[in-house]
Amino acid sequence: MGYNNAQEWHLQMRKKYGDRYAIFFGQQLSIFLCNEEDIKEVFIRNFSNFSDRGVVDIFRETKLNASLLQNTYADGWKHVRSAIAPIFSTGKMKAMHETMNTKIGTLLEILEEKSESGEKWDIYDDFQGLTLDVIGKCAFAIDSNCQRDRNDVFYVEARNFITNIDLRQNPLIGTSIIIPELMWLWKLLYRFTGLASAELPMVGGLHNVYKRRRGGEGSDSVDLLKLLLDREDDKTNGMTKKEVIENCFAFLLAGYETTSTALTYCAYLLSRYPEVQQRLYEEIEETKRTKHGLDYDSIHQMKYLDAVYKESLRYYPPVIHFISRTCLSDITINDQFYPKGCLVTVQANTVHRNKANWENPDKFDPDRFLESAESNQLKWIPFGIGPRYCVGMRFAEMEFKTTIVKLIEKFELSRIEGEPDLIPDCNGVIMRPKDPVRLSLKLRKVV
Ligand code: HEM
Repeated sequence: MGYNNAQEWHLQMRKKYGDRYAIFFGQQLSIFLCNEEDIKEVFIRNFSNFSDRGVVDIFRETKLNASLLQNTYADGWKHVRSAIAPIFSTGKMKAMHETMNTKIGTLLEILEEKSESGEKWDIYDDFQGLTLDVIGKCAFAIDSNCQRDRNDVFYVEARNFITNIDLRQNPLIGTSIIIPELMWLWKLLYRFTGLASAELPMVGGLHNVYKRRRGGEGSDSVDLLKLLLDREDDKTNGMTKKEVIENCFAFLLAGYETTSTALTYCAYLLSRYPEVQQRLYEEIEETKRTKHGLDYDSIHQMKYLDAVYKESLRYYPPVIHFISRTCLSDITINDQFYPKGCLVTVQANTVHRNKANWENPDKFDPDRFLESAESNQLKWIPFGIGPRYCVGMRFAEMEFKTTIVKLIEKFELSRIEGEPDLIPDCNGVIMRPKDPVRLSLKLRKVV
């Protein structure tokens, strides 16, 4: 069709067919929504009829079915969500902030060494090391050396899984979407795929960590696994062992590439908009002077940082093919008939780049979040919509803001002469930079 990637294709579809358009993938009807009123009706008001995420059938073979990413209302989504949501409370996040700071410290050391070497490198790779290190420690108390050692087992296994989930690397996923009639065959073949062999060591590793933790190891540590284990012990709100393990696996997948991609986009944007970077730097210095330094609370009070965070996620939403729901029974909403079984999807990029939602949507302008007091609830959707929005949003926000603050406090980012502009590329769930993102990092003078 002449488009390089899915998100561009969707922008064109919206231009051509308007705020609602539908596509058949094989026999699967997919309806795409872009308009606020439709989105509110389907994802919020009629949530009970659209409570389940649209999951590609072949993924039902993975070890994620009991996790929030894939479980259905009938399988107990509400119960698991209510058990998990409190582990992302402010109090728990504060307790994990120190761990995060230590990991960010390692990232800064690595970046300093690299910037002094005079070589060019891909900063996306460093952010991936960081977010994996953080989620490994905060979710399972795994101490890995993955930021410094790319042969670290944990890093190699996680990358292997992420690579295999990519539609272009894994033809079986694409084929199973186009020819769902042969699902019995695709499911049979699944166990021979790279994806199946990539998840085995990771889930096996989680079983081992679980066993050690049940044996008393790390009992005083504050991490997501510990908090889930406490839930498992809770007689009324308890979770099963399978739910605990599969949700941990989900945190690992959902919390790693998403956040590193978001950080890469933000670092790139700051290098291209020096005036935005300078204002942010001034806010950081002001916060250090007037508050108790850069701790959890002072970082969360920084208004310009919040605007940069929101605008960067609006401009380049990392997750664009995941906000989807299955229609559980025939229903007509706003004169649109939704047959049982159809998929309803909202593509974050089309909402974020819609002129009806945002003035000059293609302009990167953090000020829009300072000026506008109106609620942007259904116009700003990088973390999804309604009761099933991203459960790890606060965790991601804390990691994003703390990393960017520490990065800009230490380095001045700028463009390297001759380096190409970033091109976002989506071939699955995540929209990521197509090519390496090489920036110049200059140590700021300590005054
Ligand atoms: C910048 C980083 C992140 C982005 C952009 C992001 C985005 C999203 C989006 C768009 C959804 C789908 C929401 C919907 O269907 O309405 C989602 C769901 C989810 N995310 Fe995130 N996410 C991020 C980080 C995280 C982290 C750090 C974790 C865990 C530690 C996490 C765990 C989950 C889970 C478990 C779900 C499924 C929730 C449910 O269905 O109840 N995410 N995320």
